[in-house]
Amino acid sequence: MVYALAACQSQDELKLKHYYIEGQALYTTHCANCHQENGEGLAGLYPPIAKSDFLTNNKNYIICGIKHGISDTIQVNGKTYRQPMPANAQLQAIDIAEIVTYIYNEWGNEKKITPVKEVQKILEKCE
Ligand code: HEC
Repeated sequence: MVYALAACQSQDELKLKHYYIEGQALYTTHCANCHQENGEGLAGLYPPIAKSDFLTNNKNYIICGIKHGISDTIQVNGKTYRQPMPANAQLQAIDIAEIVTYIYNEWGNEKKITPVKEVQKILEKCE
């Protein structure tokens, strides 16, 4: 039993590593222009993802926002942002799952993957 459990955990760790590495590469390509490689954003224009209070409570909203863009006025760490974020219609659920896994492990205190199945379900319900 103990061995089976240990094997299971390392499978999960491998999967997390895989999602994280893919997610980091996708982030560099699709997100870092605005939010910067270090996640700190660009003064006043593009909100930070690193240490963002918005990240914690709005995961579903962010998943939909990556796919369809964001055009609301939002508050991040007490600052107001109203510049639109462009859609990424070409990104598939798996790409978004990897990006979200990357940003939430890097900057959102998570130690787990956001599975593609969960992202698919959320994407079906975006408005
Ligand atoms: C062209 C610049 C641009 C690109 C590229 C971009 N964003 Fe954004 N992002 C923004 C702006 C501007 C906002 C604020 C939107 C608003 O105020 O309605 C935002 C908001 C966010 C937020 C919510 C606020 C926060 O900082 O916590 C997250 C998370 C986010 N973006 C992640 C991403 C990810 C992941 C990608 C890549 C898939 C990405 N963005 C690509 C400009 C961009």
